[in-house]
Amino acid sequence: MPTKRSVGTLGDKDLSGKKVLLRADLNVPLDDGQRIADDNRIRASVPTIKFLMGKGARVVLASHLGRPKGVTPKYSLKPLVPRLSELLVVDVPYRNVTHGYFLLNLKPWLILCFLDLFMCFKKVVMANDCIGEEVEKLATALPDGGVLLLENVRFYKEEEKNDPEFAKKLASVADLYVNDAFGTAHRAHASTEGVTKYLRPAVAGFLMQKELDYLVGAVANPKTPFAAIVGGSKVSTKIGVIESLLSKVDILILGGGMIYTFYKAQGHAVGKSLVEEDKLELANSLIEKAKSKGVSLLLPTDIVVADNFAADAENKIVPASAIPDG
Ligand code: 3PG
Repeated sequence: MPTKRSVGTLGDKDLSGKKVLLRADLNVPLDDGQRIADDNRIRASVPTIKFLMGKGARVVLASHLGRPKGVTPKYSLKPLVPRLSELLVVDVPYRNVTHGYFLLNLKPWLILCFLDLFMCFKKVVMANDCIGEEVEKLATALPDGGVLLLENVRFYKEEEKNDPEFAKKLASVADLYVNDAFGTAHRAHASTEGVTKYLRPAVAGFLMQKELDYLVGAVANPKTPFAAIVGGSKVSTKIGVIESLLSKVDILILGGGMIYTFYKAQGHAVGKSLVEEDKLELANSLIEKAKSKGVSLLLPTDIVVADNFAADAENKIVPASAIPDG
């Protein structure tokens, strides 16, 4: 059941002809040839985009990609346009074809040409920036059900600083806001948090809602024994979630880069692995806290070591307590 903060509660009346700033997480990996190596995040964003298109909204789609410092072509969102267009065009509802009566009088192949032409209009338009005059013009020209993809919001340092002026500019092209960027929801940036001060309603997209419902349901009403798995590269950004889970779970399984901070804190060698040197004490205090609460805090027992960070690197599996130098 969608909550009242979900996009699913908005109807035709709220959305038809309205410009919606939709923040998605389209941070997909690109290979050296700027080809999408994994389109999962694009596909995960599609249900919300299609829903908005189907309601006749004009979708202004914003995302970050990578961690650019200023405008950096290799972090442009342009390579995503063909795949996004492909995924969005498939079932554009025919009810949007307003000249159906005209098509009825044409030969089938001509109808197909017209439909194709029509669908071209439905394809994603790409802006060269995420704020400014060009964006305003493109957003104003969007047809109902159209999609405008803004360029990487992180090309501006103001995005990560959650600068209010920048947030205001981003918000200025839209009438309402939908946040479907679950993968970025832990960051209070201008396009994820700042804009909510300037746009109403500000609601969750389907992906965000699904994750929140799942998380809230699982944590508020757990079946026991209750185990949680937490991954990520840094302990420092997970303290809140780890501490909160320690009072709820029976088992806490840690994974990802942050485990090396725990190993090092316990006196193990970690080679060249990622470690937060200033968080060793914190890691030990979390281990102690888990013990005092009777929670089994589990770290991986074996590790893949490699001589290089590459798919073709020499590698082997070693016990976590025997990671070799380098
Ligand atoms: C991710 O890939 O984890 C999200 O898109 C967030 O990206 P970030 O860690 O660069 O903020």
